Amino acid sequence: MITGRTQILGVIGDPVEHTSSPVMHNAALQALGLDWAYVAFHVLPADLQAALRGMRALQLRGLNVTVPHKQAVMAELDEIAAEARIIGAVNTIANEDGRLCGYNTDGYGFIESLRQEGGMEELPSQVVLLGAGGAARAILHALLQRPEVEKIVLLNRTVDRAEALAGDLDPAGLRVEVEGLEEHDGSGIRDAGLLINSTSIGMHPNECSSPLRNAACLHAEMLVLDIVYKPLHTRLMEQAEAVGARVLNGLGMLVFQGARALEIWTGKKAPVAVMKQAALERFGAAS
Ligand code: ATR
Repeated sequence: MITGRTQILGVIGDPVEHTSSPVMHNAALQALGLDWAYVAFHVLPADLQAALRGMRALQLRGLNVTVPHKQAVMAELDEIAAEARIIGAVNTIANEDGRLCGYNTDGYGFIESLRQEGGMEELPSQVVLLGAGGAARAILHALLQRPEVEKIVLLNRTVDRAEALAGDLDPAGLRVEVEGLEEHDGSGIRDAGLLINSTSIGMHPNECSSPLRNAACLHAEMLVLDIVYKPLHTRLMEQAEAVGARVLNGLGMLVFQGARALEIWTGKKAPVAVMKQAALERFGAAS
């Protein structure tokens, strides 16, 4: 029930109509008994500044930010959390008494998914990360925060892009090793306890493709996290299961990044199970 006191949250993106965030957050707001609502706003790049002025004027409580605004929005904020500044992207804005504060909750989502769904309190000493886009930035930053991770093998089709990412986040070149995704011989994967796919390979509508040409290097002692959630079960996950590896899809990361955003906005503990169920219904039905 929308009332005269309803507080508004939302997500801005272009396109935005396929987002699962409204379903997930409105289920959570209802479970918390809050007179708040969450909606999707289609904001074109040319209108981003005006949209943020609107956020102030309308006193929206918070926004999630998605493609293509995660970097550009930073110029419009009053404060940016250190983590978001280092990652170079904001996915959550909180309106704190008129001051717009930017956060990045993707790294938290990634770590919590590994911890709560993968049972990984400690990460393995060697990790392989596929991809060097926006998602990879937040994941690589989170991995570099963990002292037990000694070596990260970063594989990307465009090697220059991976070199740039590694140079940004690990400037001394102590822990990140870059190689071409297509040229990689699998040795880095054989020695790894965790492999993460942050590329869009395998995502709808390319369900049949896998980022690994040769999956023989996957093994039973590893966990494979594919951050894709549409479909919920990817070709890479199939390849990993075939050798006895444990697998996770990207649903957990999606839910936990959302849960953290909700906690920033409301100050209340997010009902993670409710959010996961809502997202699962959304993707289960849609995939
Ligand atoms: P996001 O912000 O979701 O991470 P992105 O910044 O567009 O998206 O990054 C997409 C990632 O998927 C990149 O690592 C990209 O590789 P390139 O840097 O070489 O473009 C990777 N990717 C997408 N399609 C690919 C394909 N067909 N083959 C190999 N890599 C692909």
